[in-house]
Amino acid sequence: MIYLHGDLGAGKTTLVRGVLNALGHTGRVKSPTYTLLEPYSAGGLELRHFDLYRLNDEEEWESAGFRDEFDGHNVFFIEWPEKAQGLIPAADMEIDLDIAGEGRIATLLASTKTGRECLERL
Ligand SMILES: Nc1ncnc2c1ncn2[C@@H]1O[C@H](COP(=O)(O)OP(=O)(O)OP(=O)(O)O)[C@@H](O)[C@H]1O
Ligand SMILES: [Mg+2]
Repeated sequence: MIYLHGDLGAGKTTLVRGVLNALGHTGRVKSPTYTLLEPYSAGGLELRHFDLYRLNDEEEWESAGFRDEFDGHNVFFIEWPEKAQGLIPAADMEIDLDIAGEGRIATLLASTKTGRECLERL
């Protein structure tokens, strides 16, 4: 469970695109700005990419069936996780992105054993 933090345009979606490409995904990776969720299968993993900026309330969350997504899938990237506080599982890792000129600075924080294991392999 990876939370992605950073201002609008900080590079959250671009980071997910990079990970998916590295896993061998060759199709488009579009921002889930309006769909809120884009699903992927890549590298033997089932990945779910959420952008919750436009999530209105818990009712919308439930009626979209998002709760069921948190069962049996492997990797979650969540942009704007604070919009679904109490609805999504706690993060294994949180990534903060800051704009630095034409590049970005990423700060990674592991909060569980799984998160620490991932961090140690980077
Ligand atoms: N590591 C990077 N280096 C240089 N440019 C980047 C980097 N990451 C993203 N960008 C550029 O910044 C712009 C915004 O990126 P992106 O859409 O990934 O941001 P975002 O954090 O997902 O924004 P939003 O909160 O609106 O979803 C894009 O034009 C992208 O090319
Ligand atoms: Mg985005």
